[in-house]
Amino acid sequence: MSLESHLAAFDPVTDPDQAERYLTDWPRDAHGRARAILRPRNVEEVAAIVRLCAAEGIPVVPQGGHTGLVEGAVPSGEGREVIVSLERLNRIRDVDAINFSMTVEAGCILANLHAVAAGHDRLFPLSLGAQGSCQIGGNIATNAGGINVLRYGMTRNLVLGVEVVLPDGRIWNGLRKLHKNNTGYDLKQLFIGSEGTLGIVTAVSLRLFPKPTQVETAFLAVESPAAAVELYGLARRDLSDLLSAFEIIPRFGLELAQEATPDLRDPLTTSASHYVLMEASASGLVDLATLMQLFLEGAMEAGHVLDGTIAANTAQARLLWRFREDLVEGQAKRGRHLRTDVSVPISSIADFLARTDAALAAAEPNAIPVAYGHVGDGNIHYNVLPPPDMAEADKPAFLKRCEKAIYACLAEFGGSISAEHGIGRAKLSSYLKGLSPVEKALTEGVKRQFDPEGIMSPGRLFEA
Ligand code: FAD
Ligand code: LAC
Ligand code: ZN
Repeated sequence: MSLESHLAAFDPVTDPDQAERYLTDWPRDAHGRARAILRPRNVEEVAAIVRLCAAEGIPVVPQGGHTGLVEGAVPSGEGREVIVSLERLNRIRDVDAINFSMTVEAGCILANLHAVAAGHDRLFPLSLGAQGSCQIGGNIATNAGGINVLRYGMTRNLVLGVEVVLPDGRIWNGLRKLHKNNTGYDLKQLFIGSEGTLGIVTAVSLRLFPKPTQVETAFLAVESPAAAVELYGLARRDLSDLLSAFEIIPRFGLELAQEATPDLRDPLTTSASHYVLMEASASGLVDLATLMQLFLEGAMEAGHVLDGTIAANTAQARLLWRFREDLVEGQAKRGRHLRTDVSVPISSIADFLARTDAALAAAEPNAIPVAYGHVGDGNIHYNVLPPPDMAEADKPAFLKRCEKAIYACLAEFGGSISAEHGIGRAKLSSYLKGLSPVEKALTEGVKRQFDPEGIMSPGRLFEA
């Protein structure tokens, strides 16, 4: 029997229109071809597919919600790879509210997990713009960050155990739901952030938190990134470390959000170069509203804030968040652009931005920068739009030159080229250039140990 006839048991997608969404990514920058697109229903089927592919040396690429931003889940153009979509593995296996944990399958959509946790008076705090589409398996594979990292940590901090199909088809059940387990190497951590190169995550035990009963959201105009960073330290102190998000948005970011959602109205009458969108949350009896009110009054009196508003209810808070979320959509509507995902120490954010603004303006005076992001993580998406009249054919080289100018500044601050999106294929050459010989040897050793034949996600994290 041919491989294809074996694979037919796993609900392959054969209709070309239906296949399209598995062959491209959210920004539509990359498009590939696949040998097959399979939708297994359980871990045993995932293992059977991997065994079949391993026996024939066929490369396998796991796929979650295909919202990744570094072309990891998109198949290459050669049409050799088998895509394994995890979308049918979407069961909740266990919620243990007393243990503050839940065990779920990899294909569960992140927003659905928020609802499941909330139904048990718990919070699963991983939160990102793509949460209505991305899957928890994809979040694990990319070690996703998002807006709540400053309080709860990256995905890495939220995982108690994983179940993985290894590249030879064996199943590793590491699904313990222990909060403390110090027995030898912490193997699960190797799979978190491994971007499908060491195996396929099929289920995960997650750490939960008390569900906040109070959330305060404020939108503030500030004079500069330096003022935003200063404010961040004050907010953590004055809000008793109950801060759960602290994002910076440039003025142009608000305009991009309004391009995506024209009925969004400016929340403030004061126009400023930068805005801060911040959130504090708490459960229990603490008077969060008063804390936020006093903080804002103090910050305004001290001149750290030019103007500000606190959302009066959940609907108003949602509207303020639209500015942050829809600016990403607004950029996408402008067409091909440069997305970066850099990090520097929080204390260097303002100097890094000033240095990079100047260097980019000197190198590419037509570049339109959009630098926004997660202040509390030192993580800035220093993105660049090409000028509107630039020919499509000139954009890739132009954006590459912009990236080079940004990365040169980043190196001066000891920064990272990927704070939260990962490497995939899009950032591979920059990542490999930055590895020391020792790091390269250790990383390659890990890959060889798990996947000696190199069938898992070739070309991601390592050269194909
Ligand atoms: P996919 O895109 O399907 O896959 C991503 C990678 O993981 C691929 O390499 C794939 O092969 C691998 N993979 C997927 N599932 C598995 C599995 N079960 N086992 C092994 N490997 C697997 N990211 C952030 O970190 N922070 C943000 O704030 C953020 N905001 C975003 C906002 C928008 C609008 C968009 C479109 C994306 C954003 N992202 C953000 C990026 C993206 O949402 C995350 O990287 C997310 O974790 C990807 O999940 P996914 O299910 O879509 O994975
Ligand atoms: C964000 C994504 C792109 O923070 O990481 O908007
Ligand atoms: Zn981000």
